[in-house]
Amino acid sequence: MAPVSLARLRKSYGSRTIFDDFNLDIADGELLCLLGPSGSGKTTLIRLIAGLERLEGGEIRIGGKDVSFAEPRERHVGMTFQGYALYPHLSVRQNLLYPLKVRGVPKAEADRRVTEAARLLGIAQLLERRVQQISGGEQQRVAIGRAIVQKPQLYLLDEPISNLDASLRESVRSDIRRLQQALAATMVIVTHDQLDALAIADRIAVLRHGVLQQLGSPEELYEKPDNVFVAGFIGRMRMNFLPGRLLRESGVVLQGAGFSLALPGRFAPLLDSESREVTLGVRPDALLPCAGPAPDAIAVVVKSIQFQGEQVLCSAVAGEATIQAALADGHGLLPGVPAWLRPRADKLHLFDTESGFRLSPPALHAGFATGYARDLAAPTTGGGQT
Ligand SMILES: Nc1ncnc2c1ncn2[C@@H]1O[C@H](COP(=O)(O)OP(=O)(O)OP(=O)(O)O)[C@@H](O)[C@H]1O
Ligand SMILES: [Mg+2]
Repeated sequence: MAPVSLARLRKSYGSRTIFDDFNLDIADGELLCLLGPSGSGKTTLIRLIAGLERLEGGEIRIGGKDVSFAEPRERHVGMTFQGYALYPHLSVRQNLLYPLKVRGVPKAEADRRVTEAARLLGIAQLLERRVQQISGGEQQRVAIGRAIVQKPQLYLLDEPISNLDASLRESVRSDIRRLQQALAATMVIVTHDQLDALAIADRIAVLRHGVLQQLGSPEELYEKPDNVFVAGFIGRMRMNFLPGRLLRESGVVLQGAGFSLALPGRFAPLLDSESREVTLGVRPDALLPCAGPAPDAIAVVVKSIQFQGEQVLCSAVAGEATIQAALADGHGLLPGVPAWLRPRADKLHLFDTESGFRLSPPALHAGFATGYARDLAAPTTGGGQT
């Protein structure tokens, strides 16, 4: 298996720049998820790694070897394509044999590899069926099988889970993880679904407009998003964003449009600059109801309450901002009635409103693209489903 190093990659389609100075290192035996909205460049990036797109600048190394201009077959990469790309009228066995035939692998060796891959994927009983006679989840396995039989040094799977319905997703997710560990493979999995990425990745690389937004473990991205885009993209429920100004009163206070909130002392160093525009991020499940007014609670008016079984979803407004809270129970909250929601002090995120960068320690990360104010103005872009 092989580590992958992408350095200073450049790629454009006509006058449209997709990547400009893109850098990413993938460790040997790592399962890396490439996560980003539609059009962010995920497929383009793995096609560059596979050698299916022409690189315009920079360097691609697989297993330490510079393959920037090598033919696809010299790269020893097993790739599955968005939407499977199987031959529907051929049997599962013929589909698995096909890439080996193309490469001139001797028949006995090819048969052996197909049997082994089918066993690993649990599709041995399907080998004689035609692809059009098997389910979507089974087709997905066959697509991965076509990569496995090639014994690649690197797996590139483009949206292997996305087309499956909810019940199959769970099982294919864990199958892929189990397989990756059994093969001790370096695997890059493309997805636009943050829940898939959170569930299976060692690390996630978040892409937006061809720019790497953050690279880290699922926990790091969830607990310490580097910017507003990642904060809004990661998480089952979208993070609440509350814009305001930081003021020095008896402590640090966020003054928003129609509400104010005392913040923990750890944010005091941020007061050194002139009172700046910041955006507070707090996830719905980090809000707790509070019996009455308190400096560290947000005064809201409840708009709606939705019972969801294990939790109650409360939608409320604080001045001009809308807030969603996921509460353990309704706590007697009623639509139209004032209430107070207290964010958990250790679950607060502060971002610079202009740049979108995280402000709470660790301090600013330089070098990311700016222009996040747009995201704040249009909260519907988040939720990880765009
Ligand atoms: N062959 C091509 N010619 C011109 N533009 C292209 C080509 N392929 C992709 N693009 C453009 O490059 C950008 C990145 O596309 P890409 O397919 O890599 O996105 P993606 O992240 O895989 O999206 P999705 O989640 O929809 O699959 C898009 O704006 C797309 O329109
Ligand atoms: Mg794609």
